[in-house]
Amino acid sequence: MSFLSQPSLAMADFRRLGDYIHAELGIKMPDAKRGMVESRLRKRLSVLNISSYEEYCAYLFSSRGQRDELPFFINQVTTNKTDFFRESKQFVFLEKKALPELVAGMPTCDPKKLSIWSAACSRGHEPYSLAMVLSEYAEQQKNIDFRILGTDISTDVLNVAQKAVYTHEEIEPVPMALRKKYLLRSKDRRKNMVRIAPQLRSKVRLLRLNLMNKRYTAVEQMDIIFCRNVMIYFEKDTQHQILHRLLSHLKPGGFLFMGHSEVIQHTEFPLRSIQTTIYQKVG
Ligand SMILES: C[S@@+](CC[C@H](N)C(=O)[O-])C[C@H]1O[C@@H](n2cnc3c(N)ncnc32)[C@H](O)[C@@H]1O
Repeated sequence: MSFLSQPSLAMADFRRLGDYIHAELGIKMPDAKRGMVESRLRKRLSVLNISSYEEYCAYLFSSRGQRDELPFFINQVTTNKTDFFRESKQFVFLEKKALPELVAGMPTCDPKKLSIWSAACSRGHEPYSLAMVLSEYAEQQKNIDFRILGTDISTDVLNVAQKAVYTHEEIEPVPMALRKKYLLRSKDRRKNMVRIAPQLRSKVRLLRLNLMNKRYTAVEQMDIIFCRNVMIYFEKDTQHQILHRLLSHLKPGGFLFMGHSEVIQHTEFPLRSIQTTIYQKVG
């Protein structure tokens, strides 16, 4: 495909794709996103040797395309920005307030088990940040065990999370003491990479899950749910439905952490607001 004859995404094809993204993934696709979708799918056209977006749509919506192309399509149209210890104040709250309160309220058993869900976990920075905090807490308090579930709709990001290999730039926000303990440098020193240590990786289970699903069958009852920076892509109605489903997997007294711009009208839900973007389930 020559640079001069690059195909363009006609509005009718964009609307077809946009309606599909909206219905299946919940993500809003206003007309202003046409350029973004066009540029993100260009690589797919080139890989598949397809010469127009019209032809790409025909393939995607065919039964073969739904089976073979859909995961690639989803990988292209989702936005996966994330960081270790993103919104770091929430991790301080987690360590200082949420974990002590949850553990204090648990029946005496050996060990006390905490379940944490990172819904829309992207490339793993969030579940592994959680794993570091939980691991430190478990070490100090003794008698505590934990497991973390990370879910996302994109197979690309889940593959990165599964490998758990990150660049030195990515791990900048990780406090030095935690880096030394939980990040392994590549044996080849010329490589600018680190890997999450096996004792943390073994605590994190990763799973593909579309938050638009009517049920989250693979998800158990959680003590803590992080669902951050994904609701912003959904419309209000969708946000409400997803929130109801998320809350049905949160134990009473459990904590819900949202993204910095995702404030919930909590009176409509069994939640009390603890701090901006941090809620506790009542009942
Ligand atoms: C901006 S990232 C947020 C990552 C992380 N929670 C954070 O705050 O750093 C949003 C993630 O939501 C995922 N996502 C988008 N729509 C989804 C859906 N319907 N179900 C599950 N995950 C979805 C995307 O694949 C992406 O990885």
